[in-house]
Amino acid sequence: MKERLSTTVQQLKPSGIRRFFDLAASMDNVISLGVGEPDFVTSWAVREASILSLERGYTSYTANAGLLELRFEIMKYMKRNFNVSYDYKDDIIVTVGGSQALDITMRALINPEDEIIVVEPNFVSYSPLISLAGGVPVAIETTEETEFKLQPRQIEEVITSNTKALLLCSPNNPTGSSLSKEELQAIADIVIKHDLLVITDEIYAELTYDEEFTSIASLEGMKERTIIISGFSKGFAMTGWRLGYICAPTEIAKAMLKIHQYTMMCAPTMAQYGAIEALQNGQHDVEEMRKSYRRRRNFMVKSLNQIGLECHSPGGAFYVFPSIKKTGLSSEEFAEQLLLEERVAVVPGNVFGKGGEGHIRCSYASSMESLEESIKRISRFVENKL
Ligand SMILES: Cc1ncc(COP(=O)(O)O)c(C=O)c1O
Repeated sequence: MKERLSTTVQQLKPSGIRRFFDLAASMDNVISLGVGEPDFVTSWAVREASILSLERGYTSYTANAGLLELRFEIMKYMKRNFNVSYDYKDDIIVTVGGSQALDITMRALINPEDEIIVVEPNFVSYSPLISLAGGVPVAIETTEETEFKLQPRQIEEVITSNTKALLLCSPNNPTGSSLSKEELQAIADIVIKHDLLVITDEIYAELTYDEEFTSIASLEGMKERTIIISGFSKGFAMTGWRLGYICAPTEIAKAMLKIHQYTMMCAPTMAQYGAIEALQNGQHDVEEMRKSYRRRRNFMVKSLNQIGLECHSPGGAFYVFPSIKKTGLSSEEFAEQLLLEERVAVVPGNVFGKGGEGHIRCSYASSMESLEESIKRISRFVENKL
């Protein structure tokens, strides 16, 4: 029989996060710090707007790029919050989550053998999506010494004639690291010098705790070479709604729209009506959630350091990424034994690529009560291992 499957797909590894979820799901009394999603329910006003759209019978497809009214709100939001101006008719596409936005970005940009620089540890989808689009992910490793922040000189070290783009994620999943305006400027200078594109995943932009969030697209000379990926999943607690968006230079957005048209037609209609409400009136809810995450971040960073698991204070997202090196265990061993012995689920850092080994990702999008209990259990576990 002929080979049925694509070699690219055969070579893809299944997500390392799933294995731990499956194991944790088969056990009782587990506290999960494993999931990467808000513990809040989407605000009632957003749910109500979506219900209302159904009551009114808005159940058909929208424009391929998304409801014009939603794109208009996204345009205003980008201008208001991040000081970057887009044409809502031509530069913005509403997608099925940040996930689809990432997928069509890669497929619209990549020719065979094009290299995309990725900064590891990173979100598990990046390299597989680049490979699926026929490109080559080129990893830069960041480490705890620089609080997992990309150093601009590292970009120059990996640039070749095939380098097309740099993929950034700030605030970062899994490290929570956030780049300041000055740090982004230093990266932008190199990107411009080498005529690269930047794909910036800003899905955690609203969840920034210490400094104001800066989009690299807002820096001088960057908008025309930047593709912003964002969405409603994290900041607006809307993971299940499957709604994201892309803001890109017109020519690139047009190319992406072709792929979106053929594969998705459009994002879910009722979710788009909910998102309009989120952008128009949801800022207060976002602020409340942000404050709550910030309190929990402070608790986790302090507690983990007290236990002796060195942990920098991440500027955003809802993850901490402490070092577990002093236990002598690999991150896989640590995560597995912690789950079996103390019933706490975390994600081993190695699944996020280079620089992740020797760390675990703990999501603090969990109740304070669960966080306190998880810290007690982790503390007991670590004491036994030392
Ligand atoms: C960095 C990053 N980008 C994108 C996504 C995808 O989000 P969505 O639910 O909008 O597809 C996630 C989800 O965990 C993420 O952490």
